[in-house]
Amino acid sequence: MTTQPTEPTGRTPITSAADIDLNDWDFWGCPDEEREHAFRLLRDLDKPAFFPEPEFSLGGVTGPGYHALVRHADILEASRNPEVFCSGDGGATNIPDLPAEFAEYFGSMINMDDPRHARLRRIVSRAFTPRMIKQFESDVDVAASRIVDELLETGSGCDFVTEVAAKLPLKIICDMMGIPEKDYQFVFDRSNIVLGATDPEYVSERADIAHALLTAGMELQQLVQDLAALRMQTPTDDLTSSLVNANIDGERLTAQELGSFFILLVVAGNETTRNAISYGMRLLTLNPEQRRLWLEDFEGRAPRAIEEIVRLAAPVNYMRRKVTRDHEMNGNLYREGEKVLLYYWAANRDERVFDDPLRFDIRRDPNPHVGFGGPGPHFCLGAHLARREITAMFRELLRRVPQIQAGAPERLLSSFINGIKHMPCEF
Ligand code: HEM
Repeated sequence: MTTQPTEPTGRTPITSAADIDLNDWDFWGCPDEEREHAFRLLRDLDKPAFFPEPEFSLGGVTGPGYHALVRHADILEASRNPEVFCSGDGGATNIPDLPAEFAEYFGSMINMDDPRHARLRRIVSRAFTPRMIKQFESDVDVAASRIVDELLETGSGCDFVTEVAAKLPLKIICDMMGIPEKDYQFVFDRSNIVLGATDPEYVSERADIAHALLTAGMELQQLVQDLAALRMQTPTDDLTSSLVNANIDGERLTAQELGSFFILLVVAGNETTRNAISYGMRLLTLNPEQRRLWLEDFEGRAPRAIEEIVRLAAPVNYMRRKVTRDHEMNGNLYREGEKVLLYYWAANRDERVFDDPLRFDIRRDPNPHVGFGGPGPHFCLGAHLARREITAMFRELLRRVPQIQAGAPERLLSSFINGIKHMPCEF
């Protein structure tokens, strides 16, 4: 899901925090350095900046506005306290509350609180334990190896995002669910709309965003529900079969729950991992000495290198919470009904926690980044899988195409996802 900042207005240069408008599209189109400068100014304020609610073109009421939490300490504290900073009551993936008609497709567990959240997480988390991911390891490795075979067949280069980074998470999620290869492109296109609707490449007219989101949601739901009907008759060993057929505790997902969970998986698991891989490739191009270090001892350095890529990539820029009662946190007051945005991207660059935070250092230790979310009930369910996929992709790339270089990235226009749509590569 996406948020709806106002139309581009022509931005004044940012010289102080007062110049920053997180609701302005032009801000989200500016280069990384400007964004870094702006969030540093916000982090240095005595208390989090407050922004009015952006106008909501999806319909629904305009809310009271939001506090931009940009310091690591605030994000940790809010994440640990879901009773005060809740994910339900309008949703965690959008600034304005989600109108009711969106809940059918986008009302998944990421937008819920316990006990509903806990029930769903319990049912689906069996598929994501390290033991289960282990079973997937060889599939991930084989898929990464095939993607590099195809890359080499291009001869000298291609669009790294569509031809390399996007392929692995897409295949793995579709395989997990039992979606056949002929539907990969269909899933890819719809997931781009769900997370990229604010970018004109995916939805050309802003007035069409609501319709495009609902259509993409409906089509993804239909795809998985058709598959579920087959798996109820004839179960296989895929995740769809285990989610629609009762487990030993008699728990299963309803058709609506399955649909919205699938949509969450394809968007949460696809775009994020894709962006981490693309961003990682760019970082390795810009920092050849880090590439050399990693090549010296790929396996030994991989765990820390992956965390460092996720820290700087921070593919999920923010998640939202709503304040359930008046509450003081780290010396600041938050009022019932207000919203807070947890800017992970900004917290991962907090100089109070990370030494020389803009430096890409594959040996960084400790690295308490919040790229996968803060400590709390919604911490990324797919973190093990994502780490595994990113490692497999770079193992293949650095082993077989060690000289690969990424060109200038074309950024997704989004305040929610820190995304790269296209990026040339050559080798
Ligand atoms: C680099 C890759 C990834 C990043 C940066 C990432 C980031 C995040 C973040 C920040 C959250 C926290 C949401 C919150 O606190 O409100 C989250 C939740 C979630 N992620 Fe990931 N994610 C990644 C990969 C994946 C993958 C591969 C999957 C699954 C295949 C996945 C599935 C989920 C799910 C289901 C949730 C919701 C958990 C809940 O609400 O209990 N993610 N992710």
